Amino acid sequence: MKSNKSPDKPAAQTSGTVDIFRAQETLGSFLSLFSPPKVLQVQDLPQLLFGIVDEVSRVTGAQRGTLYLVDHKEGLLTSYIAQGLATEEITLPIGSGAAGHVARTGELHNCPDAYQCPFFDQGSDARTGFRTRSMLSAPIRNQEDLIIGVIQLVNKQPSFTADDQSFVKTFASYVAVSIENAQLYKEREKTFKSAIKMITSAIDKRDPATAGHSTRVSRLCSVLAQELGLSDTGRTVIEYAALLHDIGKIGVPDAVLLKPGKLDDDEYTVIKQHAVHTKEILHKMHWPREWMDIPVIAAMHHERLDGSGYPKKHKAAEMPLIARILALVDTYDALVAIDRPYRRALSHGKVIEYLGQEVEKGLYDTDAYQALKGLDLSHLKSIYGERILAE
Ligand SMILES: [Fe+2]
Ligand SMILES: [Fe+2]
Repeated sequence: MKSNKSPDKPAAQTSGTVDIFRAQETLGSFLSLFSPPKVLQVQDLPQLLFGIVDEVSRVTGAQRGTLYLVDHKEGLLTSYIAQGLATEEITLPIGSGAAGHVARTGELHNCPDAYQCPFFDQGSDARTGFRTRSMLSAPIRNQEDLIIGVIQLVNKQPSFTADDQSFVKTFASYVAVSIENAQLYKEREKTFKSAIKMITSAIDKRDPATAGHSTRVSRLCSVLAQELGLSDTGRTVIEYAALLHDIGKIGVPDAVLLKPGKLDDDEYTVIKQHAVHTKEILHKMHWPREWMDIPVIAAMHHERLDGSGYPKKHKAAEMPLIARILALVDTYDALVAIDRPYRRALSHGKVIEYLGQEVEKGLYDTDAYQALKGLDLSHLKSIYGERILAE
């Protein structure tokens, strides 16, 4: 976290007044995180926790800091560590180590030498090669006085002061609300994603021959979206649109949907309606503003750039890149993945060759096709397994 504020005051100069000044200074830069548009980023729980730890370490002069979240139901403390661009979750039981002890007792601990602290787990240093010296651990309480987290700071020279203690205490009470908000957001996101998964498996159950299709299409679309440099929001939109693109099949009678062999013209007209149903069904859902194109994108998966698709016969200019990727991947998956009762699956190489001809005819997007063609096989293998190698 960047700050253009004055450098830290040495601990020895601090008094009660300076302590408040420091708290205000830190809160000022911390709260700036919450002014739009950064507010969305801070709903990301690990990112919020990293921000808090950075800030509190910077102000106190700690070498390192960790913020643990307490899950009383599971009896666990959870923390996140940054691993390149990803984050890894680590857990320990309540009561274990200094942080676990604070989570259990709710008491702040300031140990000038961690190795003299009876609840410090020296094994953690042995495992990581890090040498913990001074250590300050403080509980984070919510408004109901429940301990929801523990902030642990280590290695201030020579040790943490009484000012540091009161600063961390004040800071902890301020961040509790943000943490609970981010947790609530994460919880809602989880509920939303599980609802989408439930719907996707309902679509699969309708037609076992295409089971797993929506999930595979979503995963492959996500990979291509990244290859093509789409934003995080664009990627989320394509993932959800892909998961739900065939939801309209719920509205197609079994006699048509599950009919083996070729469909007659009337039946084909009926099955084509599933794209219309998809849009109608998805429009009934409340989407956040940045995802509100999902119904339209999902309904475009059978459109072709030359206007030969359905249901709206959209042309290239009306199809955003997200819709073009989805249309290509939907066809790719239908050809490569499934031994349908009436048609054998084709190899990856054959499908790429076939789609290349379709691109030449102007049906599919060239960039999306090139990204698919140039994809590292490891991506495809992670979705389709070893069979994808077959030529
Ligand atoms: Fe479809
Ligand atoms: Fe599909």
